[in-house]
Amino acid sequence: MRFPDDVPVLTDSLVTLRAHTAADIDPAYETCQDPEMQRWTTIPVPYLHEHAVDYLTRQIPARWQDGSSFAWAIEYDGRYAGTVDLRDSEGGVGEIGFAVSPWARGHGVMTRAVKLVVRHAFDDLGWRRVTWRAYVGNWASRRVAWKAGFRSLVTLPDGGLQRGVRRDEWVASVARDDELEPQGNWWTVPVIEGKGIRLRALAAKDAERVMAACNDARTQHWLAGLPSPYGLEDAEAFIDGRLELLASGEGVSWAIADAETDELLGNISVFDLNNRIDKTMAEVGYWAHPDARGRGVMAAAAGLAIRHAFTPLDDAGLGRRRLVLYAAAGNTASARVAEVNGFTRTGLDRAAAPLRDGVYDDLVCFDLLATEYTP
Ligand SMILES: CC(C)(COP(=O)(O)OP(=O)(O)OC[C@H]1O[C@@H](n2cnc3c(N)ncnc32)[C@H](O)[C@@H]1OP(=O)(O)O)[C@@H](O)C(=O)NCCC(=O)NCCS
Repeated sequence: MRFPDDVPVLTDSLVTLRAHTAADIDPAYETCQDPEMQRWTTIPVPYLHEHAVDYLTRQIPARWQDGSSFAWAIEYDGRYAGTVDLRDSEGGVGEIGFAVSPWARGHGVMTRAVKLVVRHAFDDLGWRRVTWRAYVGNWASRRVAWKAGFRSLVTLPDGGLQRGVRRDEWVASVARDDELEPQGNWWTVPVIEGKGIRLRALAAKDAERVMAACNDARTQHWLAGLPSPYGLEDAEAFIDGRLELLASGEGVSWAIADAETDELLGNISVFDLNNRIDKTMAEVGYWAHPDARGRGVMAAAAGLAIRHAFTPLDDAGLGRRRLVLYAAAGNTASARVAEVNGFTRTGLDRAAAPLRDGVYDDLVCFDLLATEYTP
């Protein structure tokens, strides 16, 4: 391929992909000063002007010519706005890499550019599959990949290499016949106001209260799966993990906060949303901080979460048909939360609830159908 003459121009109504020119050197250099660029890509740090000169005037043209990778400049709003490339395509399977200048982020530029080059890879280059890789925690990149139809995401421990250091990596891919549309749900956490409480996303500031609630003797007794003792790192990992729950479509988890002080009073989750057999059901689970117990906080919070679970997908709810809830037979406070919210006790799984002391309690099963639900 001759550079730049053979570089195809790919465009939709808003974004144009074209060969890089010398005029892109300065804006590309500027883009690479961005801390997010340095954190999530393999560019040299510090990034010097001569790096941009070398990349744009030597590396990119040479790789187009030898066919080892194809990089396009992204043009948006009449300006250079980033770079997207395809590479390492032996056997019809190759990788995509991308970055957008900070000023152009959050407008869907990258998603559009990714779709353009993926279509090009399949339709014009004859690829069978395009693979996306990102270091774990790069949520903006993961969201772009999800929006562009990448699927079957896995995490490879130490799968990535950044400036000599191994990092955990997410990998997903899209195949030639796949639709370039999101697969599965990426939920959001709506703020829901109630009487004296507010359901909101968990935040880093909640870590101490999460730790205290989960270290509490009663929580530890009934939720035997929790780490014991439950440290601050466990609380931080729990809070971080809420994003994964949303992005994988598995569940939605709220902090129950005091409406006035915003202090965390407990946690409520609607989960198992990808249930293998029934994609219209979900389970409800919760725990309360000890100083929030005995005053109806959880019953009220469950009411708000249930309402969201039964709200149709088109109205930004979870579109559930059936909810289930389980409580160890001895856990009367938890059963009470289910009952006051209209759940029906459907049965008892014998010796199914492992408790902290090694005893297996019976497990009371509850359910609630959308058809019998009254807010
Ligand atoms: C990743 C990157 C290319 C995204 O570019 P962009 O033009 O903002 O992408 P888009 O606007 O198409 O989509 C970004 C999406 O991520 C979302 N997003 C951004 N930060 C997020 C976060 N921390 N958590 C969850 N979603 C996030 C945005 O809201 C947007 O989704 P929406 O359109 O549904 O609201 C850009 O952030 C970037 O250049 N980062 C540095 C380089 C990099 O990480 N490259 C990828 C290496 S694998």
